[in-house]
Amino acid sequence: MQFKHTTVLLHETVVGVRPKSGETYIDCTAGGGGHTALLLELTAPQGRVVAFDRDPYACAHLKTRFENELKNGRLILKHGPFSQLKLALTELGLSGKVAGIIADIGVSSPQIDDAERGFSFMNNGPLDMRMSGEGLSAADVVNGESEFELARIFYELGEEVKSRQIARAIVASREARPFLETKQLADFVKSVARWHTDSKKHAATKVFQALRIHVNQELGELATLVHDALDLLKPQGRLAIISFHSLEDRIIKHEFQKLAGRRREKDLPKELAAIINQQNQNTRAEIIKPFPTLPSEAEVKENYRSRSAKLRILEKHL
Ligand SMILES: C[S@@+](CC[C@H](N)C(=O)[O-])C[C@H]1O[C@@H](n2cnc3c(N)ncnc32)[C@H](O)[C@@H]1O
Repeated sequence: MQFKHTTVLLHETVVGVRPKSGETYIDCTAGGGGHTALLLELTAPQGRVVAFDRDPYACAHLKTRFENELKNGRLILKHGPFSQLKLALTELGLSGKVAGIIADIGVSSPQIDDAERGFSFMNNGPLDMRMSGEGLSAADVVNGESEFELARIFYELGEEVKSRQIARAIVASREARPFLETKQLADFVKSVARWHTDSKKHAATKVFQALRIHVNQELGELATLVHDALDLLKPQGRLAIISFHSLEDRIIKHEFQKLAGRRREKDLPKELAAIINQQNQNTRAEIIKPFPTLPSEAEVKENYRSRSAKLRILEKHL
């Protein structure tokens, strides 16, 4: 089976969790297996990786790609959402014993490129967007939710300023003709939001982003991961998360800051340093770099989809 996905911030992420033989690492979003492969390579011969993905197509690909590692026990593959990480690691007896956790939040290239998955407004397909293929589809949401709820979804998850107008128009139109295909919805949003002349982006970009995040419960998944990760890591274990839009990055930044308290600043007056260190004693982790790591110009040139990636890393205290 063909599964074409170019891994983003590959070395920065994997090296960021300090891979060592003999330790266990988690890849929450294995996808095409790029981060998993490098984790396995850099933790050889004794390192172990537990990899998650909720996409059945990704899991089928991973089973083929890592047939040997699955057989020899260096890789454990879990088909399911990474919000089940805590449960899965407790069952494996690994809670509190993990040296590093990686998450590359978002969609894989095959999810976007295969029109049948229903993520893309560029290629027509069923209005689906479910990574797992289970639960409510985007069509169920668009045709079933109230005007108020649709407007909330578009505004909160897509930051769409015309959310109310778009929701009102959808509700007025869907009874006569339900929204079943991606191009149908994209064209409709474009016709309603024709005053969107400010950018090169398609007028439906934010509505599609919002629906995808809602259908896959992406923000809840992320919040659960950040909440559970510190319990699962061993002291000095690291959590590395790549995100692709500001909504996710804001959650990660905010949660990391909460877990870390104030960052330790260098060269502070003694009195202030004492207070800050006192505060830090009550925190559980430390932010590794004050600013996110971004892809290099060369990476963006080679893989345009990497352009909005941001990597943040947190280290659990002793
Ligand atoms: C950007 S791709 C990861 C690519 C991967 N790092 C690689 O190098 O090939 C994101 C993957 O995460 C999966 N995914 C997204 N959210 C998930 C979640 N909450 N639980 C499990 N898998 C998830 C998607 O199905 C997709 O395959």
